[in-house]
Amino acid sequence: MKIIMLGAPGAGKGTQAKKIAEKYKIPHVSTGDLFRSNISNNTDLGKEAKQYMDAGKLVPDELTVRMLLDRVAGDDCKNGYVLDGFPRTIAQAEVLEQEVAKLNDKIDYAINVEVPDENIVKRMGGRRACTKCGATYHIEHVPPKKEGICDNCGSELVLRSDDAPETVNKRLGVYHEQTQPLIDFYGKRNILFEVDGTQDTQKVFSDIVKILGE
Ligand code: AP5
Ligand code: MG
Repeated sequence: MKIIMLGAPGAGKGTQAKKIAEKYKIPHVSTGDLFRSNISNNTDLGKEAKQYMDAGKLVPDELTVRMLLDRVAGDDCKNGYVLDGFPRTIAQAEVLEQEVAKLNDKIDYAINVEVPDENIVKRMGGRRACTKCGATYHIEHVPPKKEGICDNCGSELVLRSDDAPETVNKRLGVYHEQTQPLIDFYGKRNILFEVDGTQDTQKVFSDIVKILGE
């Protein structure tokens, strides 16, 4: 099962991808999380990516594609994966399609989590992210059991450095310009499925399960 999560920044791709990964026992591969882990480990890739991320821009395709292909070549990805935040440009989608075809395989589902821009800006200010395992919470909608502490791993929760309102607006602009065209791209391949991401997280997930099967 090879799944792509599409949707604007803050639409809930990460939230849903984690649930999908758990239920269907496939790895959750988030390019944003991979970059953030490179940043916290102070790698060369992390240093370069941070400049783009903090400016609300996309990290150049070349760096992103190399990192992603390296990750999905891992043994744990043999039976599939759920990609969150990749592809984000048509060029990335084309490379992924070619690489998967080399393995005589294909992407099975592209799930678009639909949320209007107005809701997104409100959501981002309340988001808290785990610095260690990447789990995501919301102070009102999806609160952790203990304030400021990750339910999964007990690490500290922080506000992401790219969640300042002006950066969120820039990310939304980049999304509409460079990533939204992927909806058409996967629509033409007949693997596009839409879910209403404004519903509560459990309802969004049950709509996704209807698409993927029990
Ligand atoms: P990335 O980390 O992928 O960020 P993003 O796409 O902007 O998406 P987010 O992680 O912000 O949102 P999400 O959709 O995962 O929502 P979440 O589940 O957290 O990328 C960061 C940066 O890295 C990019 O800007 C770019 O610079 C770079 N990058 C990454 N991939 C790249 C690529 N392929 N190419 C180039 N550059 C790349 O939910 C958001 C909040 O809402 C949370 O607080 C959550 O608890 C809450 N929430 C979720 N669902 C609901 C709901 N149904 N109701 C109410 N609240 C909800
Ligand atoms: Mg995310």
